[in-house]
Amino acid sequence: MAYEKHREHWLDRYPAIEDLRRKAQKRIPNVAWQYLETGTGREACLQSNLDALNQYRLTPKFCKGPLKPKLETELFGVSYSSPFGIAPIGLSGLIWPSSEEMLARSATRNKLPYALSTVATETPEKVGEYINDNGWFQLYPPKESSVRKDLLKRAWEVGFRTLLVTADVPTPSRRERAKRAGFSRSPKITPAFIWQGLKRPAWSLATLKNGLPRLKTIESYADSKDTLSVAKYLQEHMRGSLTWEYCKTLRDEWQGPIIIKGILHEEDAILAASIGFDGVLVSNHGGRQFDGAPASLDSLATISAAVGDSMKVLFDSGVRSGLDVLKAMSLGADFVLAGRAFMYGVAALGEYGADHVMEIFNQDLTNNMIQLGIESLDDLAIGNS
Ligand SMILES: Cc1cc2nc3c(=O)[nH]c(=O)nc-3n(C[C@H](O)[C@H](O)[C@H](O)COP(=O)(O)O)c2cc1C
Repeated sequence: MAYEKHREHWLDRYPAIEDLRRKAQKRIPNVAWQYLETGTGREACLQSNLDALNQYRLTPKFCKGPLKPKLETELFGVSYSSPFGIAPIGLSGLIWPSSEEMLARSATRNKLPYALSTVATETPEKVGEYINDNGWFQLYPPKESSVRKDLLKRAWEVGFRTLLVTADVPTPSRRERAKRAGFSRSPKITPAFIWQGLKRPAWSLATLKNGLPRLKTIESYADSKDTLSVAKYLQEHMRGSLTWEYCKTLRDEWQGPIIIKGILHEEDAILAASIGFDGVLVSNHGGRQFDGAPASLDSLATISAAVGDSMKVLFDSGVRSGLDVLKAMSLGADFVLAGRAFMYGVAALGEYGADHVMEIFNQDLTNNMIQLGIESLDDLAIGNS
């Protein structure tokens, strides 16, 4: 059944991302829910992302007559229907089984980008069937050049064209809340897990159908496919390997646009531009890595001013509405990603859940652009606070 059939009913029932969040929580076992929701440390950074977006104000101008906002946005020569896309989420199949395929199909239906994580639970080859030769692939940098080259080749050959290189995971973060809930990188069937599963039958049935989530993209490089070996491989062969020298190599090896993800300091953005990166994604990983980091929004204007026209500026962390997208764009973002919001959609509503998130964002963007008195995203006055 296509999204159109659900649209009106869902808009009444789930008009905002928060409604999907509440429904998702009722459908996901607690351990997976806490994995999705957690920040790190005392979660000050997680909260500050939301607070910074809430507190930033845009001043409207009136008496503009009827306005028809245009949302189409071009990025790296590709025309998207709106200025936002789906951020990469690792272990996404734990949050909702087959979510990678659902997200990829939604993105393609709606002419928006979907970024597949290196540590997603589905392979680029499988997800490539749905991305129409325009996927984004997120790379955690492998130490071995043979593995790196193989991963890049696999992604490129099946239609991933934009590479996101994640810089902000030099080491795994502690994520205390997820640990307290019993989360481990190598999911095991424990009595507590079975009990949680029994209370979440739709998730359990889908998991029985799909099998327990595995890091399918990288398991072929580990000694064995068992979850412990794969988690060990990840820790020993992918963490802490990124340097500017490595980034230069990636630039040379990747034919398409390349974006550095997780940047908060303007000097890092300038360095990335100087070695030929096409974009910088201003992000603090949704508050999951370094609790001392600034709110992502607070780094945006400085980075945008520092890189000027030398590269595109993208933004994520805390985005839950079309208005958040507008706020980021008014501080210099050319394009915006959201992570959790899309996972809420898929977990709450399944195949067309991400379509509904897109509809909420689009309606909110259009409505707030009229409130602001603009038809074009280019008319967002920089720093209009
Ligand atoms: C559950 C979860 C898993 C994530 N996994 C990855 C990942 O594998 N690679 C990556 O670069 N970022 C990952 N991120 C960060 C997102 O790409 C994005 O930066 C973040 O979700 C943005 O914040 P938001 O969730 O508030 O929109 C993850 C985020 C979450 C919530």
